[in-house]
Amino acid sequence: MSLLDQIDKNRIPSHVAVIMDGNGRWAKSQGKERIFGHANGVESVRSCLKAATKAGVQYLTLYAFSTENWNRPKEEVDALMNLLVDTIIGELDELNKNEVRLHAIGDIQSLPDHCQTELARGMMATSQNNTINLILALSYSARWEILNAVKSIVASGLSADGITADTISQHLTTKSFPDPELLIRTSGEHRISNFLLWQIAYAELYFTDTLWPDFREEDFYAALLNYQSRERRFGKTSDQIQNIPVEGDSNQPLRLV
Ligand code: IPE
Ligand code: IPE
Ligand code: MG
Repeated sequence: MSLLDQIDKNRIPSHVAVIMDGNGRWAKSQGKERIFGHANGVESVRSCLKAATKAGVQYLTLYAFSTENWNRPKEEVDALMNLLVDTIIGELDELNKNEVRLHAIGDIQSLPDHCQTELARGMMATSQNNTINLILALSYSARWEILNAVKSIVASGLSADGITADTISQHLTTKSFPDPELLIRTSGEHRISNFLLWQIAYAELYFTDTLWPDFREEDFYAALLNYQSRERRFGKTSDQIQNIPVEGDSNQPLRLV
């Protein structure tokens, strides 16, 4: 029986974000070049997208290339950019068949021209799809994003008193998407690496030792099941979350999940 059958369909996170890590180590373990790992990671992207779609996730954000990844050797960066272009071109029919809408967040203008062109084409060609939103984080880092948000808020002339948490959310590249409820990182690393710092304030974090090129549908379902085993409290007490009256508590308990 697939783990999918054990998942409570009424408590699916609407947005799952993934730090796809471990391609280089996977390749090395096979005596191959790092790019071999990246190329094999594409199959994992397919599996992850398929699993997210089957489970009913509405937004899937994949961290594909960070601002800091520009510091890698030029051959690796070039190979990653070419892989991105080839994958978008190669997957377009499949994305449309499965009603996947493609988005990109990050400093897209810093990408090579051919990447920008194919990305724009891919986003345009899938813009009418509405089963699931696939958001690629490219040349993305949260500090880059927050810095730009601050600059644009200042440029808008808003007074300090007029700025709320919502103002900041609305100036981020993710303004059209809800915050992720679940963040997955593969490859055994327990860090965030400059990903969605503002948006994951209350996300559940799930770390797996599986290297990204080995990640398949069942791994995604395992993460969802683990997520569903958690109690999200948002600063409240467990009793409040479970709607159990607490003596002397005049506040109406609020069910948040
Ligand atoms: C993740 O795998 C892919 C990118 C960051 C582009 P890595 O390339 O970081 O693989 P490891 O972490 O070196 O194994
Ligand atoms: C994070 O992985 C970025 C992506 C998955 C695109 P890294 O491999 O670049 O992160 P660090 O360097 O281990 O923190
Ligand atoms: Mg890595």
